[in-house]
Amino acid sequence: MEILEINYVNFRNLKDRNIKFSPRFNLFLGKNGQGKTSILEAIYFNATGKSFRTSKNGELIQYNKNKMGAFVSYKDSVTEKSLSVKMDNKRKEYSYNGKRIPFDNFYGKLNIVSFIPEDINLITGSPSVRRSFFDGEIAQINSEYFQNLKNYNKILKIRNKYLKERNHKDPMFSIYQDEFIRLGSAIIKSRIDYVKNISIILNLNYRKLFDDKKELSLKYESSLGELKNIDILKIQELLKKKSDSVFHQEIKYGFSLFGPQKDDFLFLLNEREAKSYSSQGEKKSIIFSLKLSEIDMIIKERRENPIFIIDDISSYFDSIRKNNIIKYLKHREIQVFISSTGDLDIDSKNFQVDKGEIYDWNKQC
Ligand SMILES: Nc1ncnc2c1ncn2[C@@H]1O[C@H](COP(=O)(O)OP(=O)(O)OP(=O)(O)O)[C@@H](O)[C@H]1O
Ligand SMILES: [Mg+2]
Repeated sequence: MEILEINYVNFRNLKDRNIKFSPRFNLFLGKNGQGKTSILEAIYFNATGKSFRTSKNGELIQYNKNKMGAFVSYKDSVTEKSLSVKMDNKRKEYSYNGKRIPFDNFYGKLNIVSFIPEDINLITGSPSVRRSFFDGEIAQINSEYFQNLKNYNKILKIRNKYLKERNHKDPMFSIYQDEFIRLGSAIIKSRIDYVKNISIILNLNYRKLFDDKKELSLKYESSLGELKNIDILKIQELLKKKSDSVFHQEIKYGFSLFGPQKDDFLFLLNEREAKSYSSQGEKKSIIFSLKLSEIDMIIKERRENPIFIIDDISSYFDSIRKNNIIKYLKHREIQVFISSTGDLDIDSKNFQVDKGEIYDWNKQC
């Protein structure tokens, strides 16, 4: 996939503009606080309907303005297409080729992978950070997963309400319970399959780019115990068993105590958990390898090259790692958007970012 151009209005500190991009490397250079992350965020937001650094949409609207919009035209292996998102303080509207569509149909159309300094959170943060990240990634390539997750979260809320109100003897409860188990096991199964596939690629990428003497793996950690090579019926069975064993406690506490919303994803470097044992540099390298692996997963599943966004590469990696990354990306046929405070050794379309204005660097010189 390739983003041809973007238009945005009232996005963070950016001055309204229309920018045409290179099919390969696009580099945004500028001092701190000028808008480099914001332009990458605008691209990401336009592609996914979400920000990569906040869940509060209102933060994206320029100070003292009450609405914001972004429009991209892009092409995939078939044709040229467009996506737009408009937002005010109350609602968000999504369009595809000029026609309004719901978010469910919007998400996953333009595949994009981002790497930002805050992503280190994926290792150091709480399990919910990892769950929402992997949920988003699986949903990007699997629309059934997206729907299952949405429905599961609805049922989870209802189930919790029944438990809180001690209404579990109501005949409807057992209907919700069956749905809870059915959707929960489908989600767990998709996550196990995803982890199994990406784990192999993750290790290869880590060894190729950063350290060929270490083994990196990703493990799905479930409250159901070891789940390798398991089928969906067996997961259902385990969930039912778990339900029986914790039901009294659930009624006591008034909410669900098992299911995929309790599970976690662990990064293991040489079989030790990265969160507790890996150095800062290793953690960054693990996450970068993860992002490259996501790219590989999207290519495998969708047969399309996703867009890759890298924020603040210069402050993230030392020069050896940075050079390895750039060397690697030069060999990949993907469109890349990078921000940096210093110039990089790549053949790129360069933009200078200065107080929210984005200038074509070559024209400036
Ligand atoms: N909604 C908003 N409206 C206007 N300005 C905003 C908004 N949100 C953030 N800003 C400001 O936009 C500026 C640019 O922020 P941004 O994070 O894009 O900078 P940056 O170039 O990536 O800097 P750094 O190199 O430090 O990461 C900051 O001064 C920030 O305070
Ligand atoms: Mg920044």
